[in-house]
Amino acid sequence: MILDLENYKTLTYSKAGRFEETRYEKIHNVLFKTSNEASILVAREIAALIKEKTQSNSHCVLGLATGSSPIKVYEELVRMHKEEGLSFSNVITFNLDEYYPMDSSNIQSYHYFMHEHLFNHIDILPENINIPNGVIKSEDLYQYCIDYEIKIKEVGGIDFQLLGIGRTGHIGFNEPGSHFNSSTRIITLDHITRIDAAPAFLGIDNVPKKAITMGIGTVCNAKRIVLLAWGLNKNTIIKKTIEGDISSNVPATYLQHHKNATFVIDEEASSELTRVKTPWLVKSCLWTASLKLKAVVWLSELLKKPILKLTDKDYNDNGMSDLLSEEGTAYDLNIKMFNRLQHTITGWPGGKPNSDDSNRPERAIPTKKKVIIFSPHPDDDVISMGGTFDRLVEQGHEVHIAYQTSGNIAVSNEEALKFAEIAKTINSDSKEVNNIIDFIKNEKDNDTIDPLSVRRLKGSIRKSESLAATRYLGISDTNVHFLNLPFYETGTIKKGNITQEDISIVNELINKIQPNQIFAAGDLADPHGTHKACLDILFSSINFLKEKPYMQDCWVWLYRGAWHEWESYEIDMAVPMSPDQVLKKRHAIFYHQSQKDGVMFQGDDSREFWVRVEDRNRLTAKKYNDLGLADYAAIEAFKRYHF
Ligand code: F6R
Repeated sequence: MILDLENYKTLTYSKAGRFEETRYEKIHNVLFKTSNEASILVAREIAALIKEKTQSNSHCVLGLATGSSPIKVYEELVRMHKEEGLSFSNVITFNLDEYYPMDSSNIQSYHYFMHEHLFNHIDILPENINIPNGVIKSEDLYQYCIDYEIKIKEVGGIDFQLLGIGRTGHIGFNEPGSHFNSSTRIITLDHITRIDAAPAFLGIDNVPKKAITMGIGTVCNAKRIVLLAWGLNKNTIIKKTIEGDISSNVPATYLQHHKNATFVIDEEASSELTRVKTPWLVKSCLWTASLKLKAVVWLSELLKKPILKLTDKDYNDNGMSDLLSEEGTAYDLNIKMFNRLQHTITGWPGGKPNSDDSNRPERAIPTKKKVIIFSPHPDDDVISMGGTFDRLVEQGHEVHIAYQTSGNIAVSNEEALKFAEIAKTINSDSKEVNNIIDFIKNEKDNDTIDPLSVRRLKGSIRKSESLAATRYLGISDTNVHFLNLPFYETGTIKKGNITQEDISIVNELINKIQPNQIFAAGDLADPHGTHKACLDILFSSINFLKEKPYMQDCWVWLYRGAWHEWESYEIDMAVPMSPDQVLKKRHAIFYHQSQKDGVMFQGDDSREFWVRVEDRNRLTAKKYNDLGLADYAAIEAFKRYHF
């Protein structure tokens, strides 16, 4: 069920397991199209509880989480306080956790996070705020944790507990192995959790190894629990938690026992749930063209048979008899789906001139297209679509590259120091160069924001790497645009809000070039959110410009690749690469030297970008081949965005 925010007042949560389509599910959950509308609904539930408690003259005890998931909920609560007079004077809060050791003034502390996102902006009494103390002496920890539990009990227990979920299945920092009865304690963080926290700490080595966390028992004693999960990164753990068996390997599964817990999730986080991924297994479906392809590809992959070899029995045995009756025979359906996939393949990503384009992914006309490739960081263009980029140039299109952000925070201090020292050999008196060198050499912890001069140097390093790569692929410097979108320029991993200024910069470029094609990153699993912000900005810009006559003739293609890839059934254009082109693409990626050798924001894949992307392009080709299509060395994949 995808809910519309308009309906929130009449919202009734369907009980898990009551209907056929939720029969695999053991935790009540509600799906939303976007995390924004979902967060607003959750904030309203909290606000209603606070008001109810105010009316009955009692305290409202909230258990609060940190991380990226609850940010919009806090934003909405702050808005309600400022604009609607929602008062927090009767609210007592208990935060789930804090890193250990961790000083509360450190910008990476959860103490800092909570004040920045919520407490500094509302009228909560400071004495009503409880956050585990990250500098408590180790010999006092045991008693400190007991006292935290007692304090929760003394105020009558938690009325409403807000949770996020880690990819390990942790709630709070209750990592795999946690006991269902556990209470507040010190815990060692799982490696995956530390990897996920690495960007905020500018590298995994700076992430604390321990944390103080409320226990599973503490959380489960709350009268009401709402868990938030957004994005593709959470889809596997959400499926395991909602559909799997209760196990200490996935501590969030303990919530299956709770009588009043709801998971609030967005489309992407829900995408592995049986009723979302394979709806034909749990209900009768409205067979749209894309659902048919999804189902047939799924069946072919499940049975490890090329599409053209699927039989009536295969369909009937796997919940697709209604599709078959709609389509006639397996033979007809197979050919139709095979052709659909076949028609996605093209060596002419800008369209094949002077040829019938009725079954091609791109238009033949205009034969020479104006193209803008938007690249969130200065390297996503070559990493994700280096082969297609090369073809577009070779086939004579006017290709522009727009680097949306400077990418400066992904340049390590060591790399920047190298360049600063070279600059010093050229001009030893430069005050700016000497200041940069001093700053880098003296920076001990990574909790200081780089001064503007260091950020500028790091940005310039990425700029020259990008120009080296775009020159190699044959486009002139005048076609390379460095947008330096302001939302990114905070000097820290946490980005600013998107503003009209960001959108206007993109508007201006599109308006100037008037492109026939736009390529952009639809790579929403990027762990630090920049790709999502860049896409949101582009979509806002397209929305603003869409009535312009030239936009009627502009097609938008989304690529992926640095972090994950489109599923075969989602692909609208598949551009094959020869082994030589694969090497050329690799070479282009190599120009981005500051991003080699263990980059700062690697995620949980320790391979370098060129290795992962070659693997992914090879895998897409293999998947096509397994479905019965031709055997290519590698394929870059695109999905069309219709506006
Ligand atoms: C934070 C916490 C964690 C996070 C979880 C998800 O207080 O207890 O359990 O909720 O790690 O983090 P995000 O929301 O950043 O994906």
